[in-house]
Amino acid sequence: MRLLLLCFLCFFISIRMSLPSPTELELLLQVKASLDPENRYLTSWTPGSDPCSTRSFEGVACNEEGRVANITLQGKGLSGRIPAALGGLKSLTGLYLHFNALNGEIPKEIANLSQLSDLYLNVNNLTGKIPPQIGNMANLQVLQLCYNKLSGSIPTQLGSLKKLGVLALQYNRLTGAIPASLGDLEMLTRLDLSFNTLFGSVPEKLANAPILKVLDIRNNTLSGNVPPALKRLNAGFQYENNLGLCGSGFSNLRDCADSSKVFTDRPEPFKPNGLYKKDIPESANLHPSCSKTPCSSPSNKSQIGVIFGIIGVVVAFSVIGLFTFVWYRRRKQKIGSAFDVSDGRLSTDQVKEVYRRSASPLISLEYSNGWDPLDKGRNGNGFSQEVLESFMFNLEEVERATQCFSEVNLLGKGNFSAIYKGFLRDGSVVVIKCIAKTSCKSDEAEFLDGLKILTSLKHENLVRLRGFCCSKGRGECLLIYDFVPNGNLFQYLDVQQGSGIVLEWSTRISIINGIARGIGYLHGSKGNKPALVHQNISAENVLIDRKYNPLLSNSGLHKLLADDIVFSTLKASAAMGYLAPEYTTTGRFNEKSDVYAFGMIVLQILSGKREVTQFTRQAAEASRYEDFIDTNLEGKFSDSEAAKLGEIALLCTHESPNHRPSMENVMQELSGLIGSS
Ligand SMILES: *[C@@H]1O[C@H](CO)[C@@H](O)[C@H](O)[C@H]1NC(C)=O
Ligand SMILES: *[C@@H]1O[C@H](CO)[C@@H](O)[C@H](O)[C@H]1NC(C)=O
Ligand SMILES: *[C@@H]1O[C@H](CO)[C@@H](O)[C@H](O)[C@H]1NC(C)=O
Ligand SMILES: *[C@@H]1O[C@H](CO)[C@@H](O)[C@H](O)[C@H]1NC(C)=O
Repeated sequence: MRLLLLCFLCFFISIRMSLPSPTELELLLQVKASLDPENRYLTSWTPGSDPCSTRSFEGVACNEEGRVANITLQGKGLSGRIPAALGGLKSLTGLYLHFNALNGEIPKEIANLSQLSDLYLNVNNLTGKIPPQIGNMANLQVLQLCYNKLSGSIPTQLGSLKKLGVLALQYNRLTGAIPASLGDLEMLTRLDLSFNTLFGSVPEKLANAPILKVLDIRNNTLSGNVPPALKRLNAGFQYENNLGLCGSGFSNLRDCADSSKVFTDRPEPFKPNGLYKKDIPESANLHPSCSKTPCSSPSNKSQIGVIFGIIGVVVAFSVIGLFTFVWYRRRKQKIGSAFDVSDGRLSTDQVKEVYRRSASPLISLEYSNGWDPLDKGRNGNGFSQEVLESFMFNLEEVERATQCFSEVNLLGKGNFSAIYKGFLRDGSVVVIKCIAKTSCKSDEAEFLDGLKILTSLKHENLVRLRGFCCSKGRGECLLIYDFVPNGNLFQYLDVQQGSGIVLEWSTRISIINGIARGIGYLHGSKGNKPALVHQNISAENVLIDRKYNPLLSNSGLHKLLADDIVFSTLKASAAMGYLAPEYTTTGRFNEKSDVYAFGMIVLQILSGKREVTQFTRQAAEASRYEDFIDTNLEGKFSDSEAAKLGEIALLCTHESPNHRPSMENVMQELSGLIGSS
C-alpha cells in the first residue's frame, strides 16, 4: 500500500515535472510582480491561465514543448526590477526588456539561463555591477546592456562567451580596464565600450578577435599605445576623446614617442614601457581626468533627449515647411487632396477603412512576415531575387528595433511618413521610415520597380538603405536606413554666434564636393543602376555623418510614392527656393533641375544662410566676400576658393537650364579646386 502511494506520488511528481506550465506560470507571475509591481502593463499575465496555450500572456512566446522561449517586453513602460525568478525559466532563448525604466541590479541568477542567446537590457536605469556569472551563459550571442547606469569593471569572464557576437556596453559608468580576455571572443563582430570611464591601455590581445568589425572606445580615459593591429578595422575602429591614447598610423592620434611631456603622469598598467615607467601602482590612476572632469557623460536619457531634440526640431521645421506649403497649395489651387496633412499615419480603423475602400493591387500583396514580392511567379520582370532578398526585413525585427514603434523612438512625422530610430540586433542604429501604403504607388509593378531602383543605389554620399519590409497590419511600407548621427545640413545654417556648430571652410568645401559626387552618381547609370534624378535636393535632404561627410537622403523615394505625394514634397522644396524656374512652365524634372538645387545649396553653405536673397547673389557676382561669405567664419577662408565656388553656384542656378553645367562638369571643376587647396 505504501509502495503504491509512493508510486502514485512519484507519478504525480513526474507529471508535475513534465507539465512545465504550472511552475513556469508561477515564475512568470513572480516576474510580473517584480517588473510591473503596480500591475499597469502586464494585465494579461493572470493566474489560472496557461501562458502558452493561447499566447494569452502579452510578450510571452513558448516553444513546442510548451516552455517559455522568448519574453519580449521592450518599451512597455516597465519601471520595476529584474527578478531573480527569471533565472528559473530554463528554456528562455530571448529576453527583451530594453527601452523600459527598470532599475536596480541585474540579478546573477540570470546567468542560469543556459539557453539564452539574446539578452537585451539596454536603455533602462539599471545600476550595480555586471554579474561575472554572465560569463557562463554558453549560448549568449547578443548582450546589450548599453544606456544604463552600470558601474564597476567589465568582468573578465565575458571572455568565455564563445558564441558572443555583439557586446554593447556604451553609455554606462563602467570603470577599470578593458579585459584582454575579450580578445578570445571568436564570434565577436561588434564591441562598443564608448562613453564610460574605462582607463588603462587598449589590450594588444583585443586585436586577436578574428572577426571583429567594429570597436568603439570613444570618450573614455584610456591611455597608452593603440595596438597597431587594430588598423585592420579601418573606420570600424573609433577611439576619439581618449586624451591619453597615442599610436602611429591612426589619424588624430599623437605619435607615442612625443607624448612624454604631456602625459608623463599616466602610467601604463599593461605595458611597462620605458617612457611611462613610474612608481605608481596600477590602481593609482583610478582618478586621472575623471575626478577633474567627472567624466559625467550626462545621463544617458538626457543624451538621447538632446539627439532626439535636435532631430525633432529639424523634423518639426520641415513639417512646418511642408504644412505651410500644402496650405498654400490648397489655397492656391483648391485641390481636395487624397492625403491628410495632419498625420500621415493611419489609425487601425482608418487602415481597415482603406482596405475596404481601396482595391489597390498593392494591398493584395502578402505583407509582413510573409510579404513576398519575391514570389517567383510574380517575378517575371527581371528582378534579381537574391538582391531583393538580401534587403528584406522581418517585421518582428523592425518592431524589436523600434520597441514596437514606440513614441519614444519617434523622430518625426511628416504628412505621409513617420520616422523612427531603432537598434538592430547587430547593434547598429537605423532610421525607419514608415510610409502609409495609401501614399505609395498603387500600381504594384511600378512600386516594386521603385524598390528595385532603391536597392541598386550604393554610394558613399548616399544614405545607405539597409532594407525594407511591408506591414499589412500597419498598412505601411517600411524603409530601413543607416542612422546618420550629425543631423542634416539645414541645422548648420543660420547658426547664431556662440550657439550651434559653425562649419569650417575646409569642411564646407568637402561637403559641397560630397554632395556633388552623390548627385553625380545618381545622374549616371552603372550596372543595374539606372540614371536617376533626385528631384528633391535640399539642405534637409543632406545628412551629415560622424566625419562631417554629406549623405543624400531620400534618393529615389519618388519612385515609390504616389504622384500626389511627390507633388506635395516638391512644393515644400519650392518654398525653400530649390525648385528650378523652368519647372513652373514645364512641370518636368531633369538632371539640370538637380543642378539648380545643388547651386542653391552651395550658396547656402557659402553664406551660412538658409535663405538665399538677391543681395547674396549680387554679392557673389561682384565677389564682395564680406556680403557673401558667412561672417561666422571670421574671415577664415580662401578668396580664390570662394570666388571659384561662387562662380560654380551662380552657373548652376542659371535661369536657363541649358547654361547650367552638368554634374560631371561641376565635379571636374571642384576636383581642380580641391587639388589646389
Ligand atoms: C524566439 O525568438 C527568436 C529570435 O527572434 C526566434 O527565432 C524564435 O523563433 C522565437 N521562439 C519562439 C518560440 O517564438
Ligand atoms: C532613472 O533614475 C533617476 C533617478 O534614480 C530618475 O530621475 C530618472 O527619471 C529615471 N529614468 C527613467 C527613464 O526612469
Ligand atoms: C541559479 O544561480 C544561482 C546563482 O548563480 C545558483 O546559486 C543556483 O544554484 C542556480 N540555480 C539553478 C537551479 O541552477
Ligand atoms: C566626449 O568627449 C569630448 C571631448 O573630451 C567632450 O567634449 C564631449 O562632451 C564628451 N561627450 C560626452 C557625451 O561625454
